Amino acid sequence: MATSVRSFAKINLGLKIGPLREDGFHELRTIYQTVALSDQVRVDLGKGVGIEIVCKDPRVPDDENNTCWRVADRILRSLKVRGKVRISIDKRLPVQGGLGAASSNAVATMLALEKELKQPLAPAERLRIASEVGSDLPLFLVGGTVLGTGHGEQVYPLDDLPSFDCVIATPNVGVSTPAAFADWDKKFPAKLTGSKLTEPSASDRISTFSRTIYEWLNGSFTPTGVPGKGRDRAEALLLDLVRTGIENDFERVVFPLYPELRDIKGALGRVGSRYASLSGSGSTLYGLFRSRAEAAKAASRLRKQGLTAVATSTLTRQKYWRESLVVGR
Ligand code: C5P
Repeated sequence: MATSVRSFAKINLGLKIGPLREDGFHELRTIYQTVALSDQVRVDLGKGVGIEIVCKDPRVPDDENNTCWRVADRILRSLKVRGKVRISIDKRLPVQGGLGAASSNAVATMLALEKELKQPLAPAERLRIASEVGSDLPLFLVGGTVLGTGHGEQVYPLDDLPSFDCVIATPNVGVSTPAAFADWDKKFPAKLTGSKLTEPSASDRISTFSRTIYEWLNGSFTPTGVPGKGRDRAEALLLDLVRTGIENDFERVVFPLYPELRDIKGALGRVGSRYASLSGSGSTLYGLFRSRAEAAKAASRLRKQGLTAVATSTLTRQKYWRESLVVGR
């Protein structure tokens, strides 16, 4: 028997990097948004012991360095069960692409393995295992529009944004997230204030996040949540996103190292995206569009320029769960 789960990607709508903490992580604030691009993860449970990873992509580790392996190992320990777990990953999302693919694969493994074992984990245990394995896993236990705080692992479901049409451009470069954080520290070093190592500018910056998000989500709405005359909600939100100037801090360290990524952001603007940004630490860039037709046309123009780009849309929480769990057997 086997269980298959669709493992969706995410993008980040704004990301603020705060101070480096004593545990080696950076405080951050972001809005995660799931999108309709996916890998497929299949879990087979058999007699015996051990965890096996099967993936045709040679960049995907097949040992305990794989997030799926780590999740499966923790689940077996937590539920005190034995078994031979075979995890097959059909990879379509980029590796080290800033779309959270490895994290999403790991959560898909969790859902599939629970089904195979016929033993659900308690919600708190799911979240504990997910955040232990990586900062970007817990968001995939929520789906839709999600606020990420702490080092990204503390997640809160937000009111779902309407589904946006978008174009996802995936350059053939992998960006290491820990390296990008290290570059951030080099570029914006902590200042020594008194006897304590603090970075006041980082704390100040992170505290602006809630204000910007408030401005964004409430900009064009009356206190009752009704959009201004003649404007549809998605369009109003899109315009306000641009007006508010919500940005991904990683662009400030990743673009100087990979200037071609800045160029792709420019190209997304030239083919008509209303808002474009790096996702996570990259290398994926996305653009939000006013309609499906505009997004499809833009993706085709980018492909003619030699870029890898697809038109898709963001996934609300309800759709995320409905479509992830179309579990094949
Ligand atoms: O949690 P995750 O496995 O994604 O983190 C990998 C590494 O990225 C961490 O060990 C840390 O060096 C860095 N990181 C960070 N701040 C975060 C998230 C990750 O410095 N908020």
